[in-house]
Amino acid sequence: MEKIKINAYAKINLSLDVIGKREDGYHNLRMIMQEIDLKDIITISETKDENIKIICKSKKVPTDEKNIAYKAAMLMLKKYEKPTGLTIEIEKHIPVAGGLAGGSTDAAAVLKGLNEIWELNLTQNELMEIALELGSDIPFCIMGGTALARGRGEELTPLKSFKDRHILLVNPDISVSTKDVYDNLDLKSIEERPDTGTLIEAVEDGDTEKLAKCMRNVLESVTVKKYPMIDEIKETMMKNGALGSLMSGSGATVFGIFKTEEELDICKSQMENQFKNVIKAKTN
Ligand code: C5P
Repeated sequence: MEKIKINAYAKINLSLDVIGKREDGYHNLRMIMQEIDLKDIITISETKDENIKIICKSKKVPTDEKNIAYKAAMLMLKKYEKPTGLTIEIEKHIPVAGGLAGGSTDAAAVLKGLNEIWELNLTQNELMEIALELGSDIPFCIMGGTALARGRGEELTPLKSFKDRHILLVNPDISVSTKDVYDNLDLKSIEERPDTGTLIEAVEDGDTEKLAKCMRNVLESVTVKKYPMIDEIKETMMKNGALGSLMSGSGATVFGIFKTEEELDICKSQMENQFKNVIKAKTN
């Protein structure tokens, strides 16, 4: 009976643009995705009883077939006809339903972990293809680093490393449904879109200040309307030294980018007076 422990890293969106609605109900996107060092820890163990069991201390994480890590395990068991059960332990540190791909990255870790313990020798591209059957963000979670994502989010072009930038995350303890946000997005009323070309240039030049100034997320138009607190967090970040601040994904986590760790620490202590879930991170 094999056992493996895997780090499942969160992501932030340095920008997110929605190009249009597709016939399959999804939207075509153009976004810059960035892996960060905030992580869940996933332990996968083979068992004899042929069931999938999810163990997680966080009450917000479902432990049944609704959990996307469960779905990933089920898909792999069926695909490779393995006569085994699996116990998946999730040590949760990434805020749930917070725009940080917390569920998606756990599922990606299950795919990677099973690829190893079953010695399937699947390539990264093969794993990314399986990942897309489970969710739009999961191929990026397999790849990590910094990437331009198009299509549903699965057409990925790796960008130059944007490692070791200082990131402060504030999660206002609101669980957001990604589907609801996309359903309520009015493409015609989007006022400000990211200039993705300039953002790519900033990443390629390693220019944190330029990137921070240009960051935009068109989904803020939906989520901020419902939760104005997101704008307040962004403003507080900017008043306290952030180079730029943005909502990640469909929300509601907000992040700020800082020039130095010292500047981040000053802002962090300010934010902690007002908000509960304040997390220090770095880009990977
Ligand atoms: O693929 P995933 O299950 O993560 O997507 C959740 C929901 O977000 C979808 O049901 C869809 O409503 C929306 N979505 C979208 N276009 C994308 C990705 C997600 O409309 N490219």
